[in-house]
Amino acid sequence: MNQNERFIVEGLGGERALSGEIAVGGAKNAILKSMPAVLLFEDAVTLSNVPDIEDVARVVELLQDLGAQVGRSGGTATIDTSRVGVSDLDDAIARRLRASVVFIGPLLARFGRVSFPHPGGDIIGPRPIDLFLSGFKQMGCEISLDGERYTLTAAGGKLRGAEIFFRFVSVTGTETLMMAATLAQGTTVLRNCAMEPEIVALAEFLNACGANIRGVGTPTITIVGGAMLRAEGKVFATVPDRIEAGSFVILAALAGKEVTVTNCEPLHIEMLIELLRESGISIEAKKNSVMVHGDASAKTLRPLSVRTHEYPGFATDLQPPMVLYLTQCEGESTLFETIYGGRLNYVQDLVRMGADITLWNPQQITIKGPTALGGRELESPDIRAGLAFLFGAAIAKGTSIIDRVYHIDRGYAHIEKRLQNLGLSIKREQV
Ligand code: EPU
Repeated sequence: MNQNERFIVEGLGGERALSGEIAVGGAKNAILKSMPAVLLFEDAVTLSNVPDIEDVARVVELLQDLGAQVGRSGGTATIDTSRVGVSDLDDAIARRLRASVVFIGPLLARFGRVSFPHPGGDIIGPRPIDLFLSGFKQMGCEISLDGERYTLTAAGGKLRGAEIFFRFVSVTGTETLMMAATLAQGTTVLRNCAMEPEIVALAEFLNACGANIRGVGTPTITIVGGAMLRAEGKVFATVPDRIEAGSFVILAALAGKEVTVTNCEPLHIEMLIELLRESGISIEAKKNSVMVHGDASAKTLRPLSVRTHEYPGFATDLQPPMVLYLTQCEGESTLFETIYGGRLNYVQDLVRMGADITLWNPQQITIKGPTALGGRELESPDIRAGLAFLFGAAIAKGTSIIDRVYHIDRGYAHIEKRLQNLGLSIKREQV
């Protein structure tokens, strides 16, 4: 693990100098669910387009700790959970990964019991699990809490179908309960579900392997429970990471002459593309790529009013690079972070770089621009803000140091190599 590494970035000082192609990897927030989903299968499952990121390494550790066999080669992983006999999630690993909560559904569905610590994750605000607990309660579970460890036990050893309304839209909540319901007794109806493309892809693969899930991509999902699934050689291809794609498009909008973001699904970042076009960026969306014509874009970028929202709205995970973008727009932009209560703390570091940002409350800011940014030493606070700092360093004047690269490596594979290919001067160093 790269706890002691940092990036040194030579800023472009406002020049539109990047050019070439940058390829998007498989989606972090898809693979973190498809790997635990293999617990629903009798046979081995092969996953392709697996990103080489730290969070995947943690999920693999959790699976191996349960007794699963995991083989990885290049971008492919084959997982066999047929010998898994325990359903207690390792404390240390689960605490470091919010997505560990996704394991609860498949484990509970398969074994009728699961125990786990309160999941860890980023410092972007409280990440409670009340939705999960109340959902499983409705599916017939008893919940006990010993210290900080939960144990959920299904009455009669089997979850039963239920009608569950999510009080708010939750991505992992939707996924976890949807997976659990595939092996439950009877029919489950989930209402007010998240509609992210990663959820749709997961359900489609489970359906191809014997599950009966209807309505994904809409707010109501109906699952008829059945027997364990069988892949029989089918390969689950991981959807392209729309957050990575969107972030690269933003970088190209800020500092690209002519940059093509390849291996992506432009339809998954429609909201971002619309906003950037409105702001004056020339963007061409093709089937699996997005071209950003920096040279042909407006010289003066128009300000925007952005509000994060569940899919297909503007993704909260794109919010930090977007705020960076807004520092370069002419006039006053506003941003309202509606998903997390603590995901704007990093803006004080952008201010240290020279940005003019007013924080009205923990979720709302005004950004006045354009402001020239200067190179600084910054500490990456979480995965998404860390990337925004890296991009801030790229457009700033002078040299920047980004510490705690580990946070960036959690979600973006070999980022420095990919940015070097576009012409950015960035290197990784041991501290
Ligand atoms: N929430 C609760 N109770 C719950 C569950 C969620 O109050 O039981 C709250 C959360 O605290 C948050 C809101 O509901 O304020 C929405 O959270 P959601 O449950 O949708 O988030 P998540 O499923 O935990 C996933 C992604 C996040 C992404 C959000 C929103 C994964 C592993 N994580 O989190 O990704 O921000 O959806 O799109 O899929 C990231 O990749 O950097 C990241 C944080």
